[in-house]
Amino acid sequence: MVLRHTLIAASENERLRSFVARTPATRGVINRFVAGERASDAVRAVAGLADLGVYSTIDHLGENTADPAQAGGITREYLTLLELIYDAGLASWAEVSVKPTAVGLSLGAEGESLAADNIARICESAAAAGTTVTVDMEDESWVPATLRVVAVLRREYPWLGCVLQSSLRRTEGDAAAMAGPGVRVRLCKGAYAPSADTGHRDKRDVDRAFVRSLRTLFESGAYPMVATHDPRLVAIAGTLARRNGRGHDDFEYQMVLGARPAEQRRLAGLGARVRVYVPYGREWYGYLVRRVAERPANLLFAARAVASR
Ligand code: FDA
Repeated sequence: MVLRHTLIAASENERLRSFVARTPATRGVINRFVAGERASDAVRAVAGLADLGVYSTIDHLGENTADPAQAGGITREYLTLLELIYDAGLASWAEVSVKPTAVGLSLGAEGESLAADNIARICESAAAAGTTVTVDMEDESWVPATLRVVAVLRREYPWLGCVLQSSLRRTEGDAAAMAGPGVRVRLCKGAYAPSADTGHRDKRDVDRAFVRSLRTLFESGAYPMVATHDPRLVAIAGTLARRNGRGHDDFEYQMVLGARPAEQRRLAGLGARVRVYVPYGREWYGYLVRRVAERPANLLFAARAVASR
């Protein structure tokens, strides 16, 4: 826990960021978890995954935009990305993931409608390209507004996906309320530490809550997107799918780029649908530090890279 907090604090540090970018060994870690800095890098990663039978959801890194112009710029980045996906003939292999605060949610009283407008533009462009969008979930302070934005946009774009975090107590209710035929819900544990009142602090409680929400999603007609690398939860998802008569096209496993790649290929080899979260962009540093904070063993990967030089 201490290491996790230290690492998260490190994600704010500019000098560390440029050190990490310049050091060959850590550059190897960046290349494993981040597709690159440009949209074309992400599309290249998607093509490589598609060759392995693995789907993608692309995230343009960055959050908490400073002003509406920046939020508009990030929205345009997504529109360009969707055009590139379409032009590369990869629309059936890749969708996009969007953080609401990256497209305006954090910008005061107007933030919610600005984010809704920008996500609607991204949905329009995704529909034209023949693919979908999933709205990421950020820390708990943004959950109510994010759910409102998704509920409004789903009237027009019923295929719009939404993330729920099992670390939050409210999520079981949200999963039950949301679970309707075909509704795309990505269930994850949650990357942010919730407060004691609103969240589960013990990892075992987070896992148990994950299973309860997952059961709700599988038992309803929802389309569960099971976002975890946890071998136990992956196995439980498989069991729930079988028990509820779900075929390979009726749910999917999701993991992040660079995490358990052999497992991603194994599941895809069994015929399951596997989707990998492919992040790209200049704001890679905070994302990378969070991945290491979640799993300090990723540091070993860097150490091995140094040792083998
Ligand atoms: P956890 O970190 O609890 O680890 C459990 C076990 O899984 C470990 O003991 C190990 O066995 C195995 N494991 C985990 N990571 C591994 C790795 N890298 N390599 C090998 N084994 C590993 N969060 C959020 O708050 N909002 C969001 O929108 C999203 N979106 C999202 C999309 C996708 C596709 C994924 C996969 C994840 C997210 N997350 C997220 C992040 C999520 O909430 C969570 O922080 C991470 O997935 C880590 O939790 P796990 O469930 O993977 O297991």
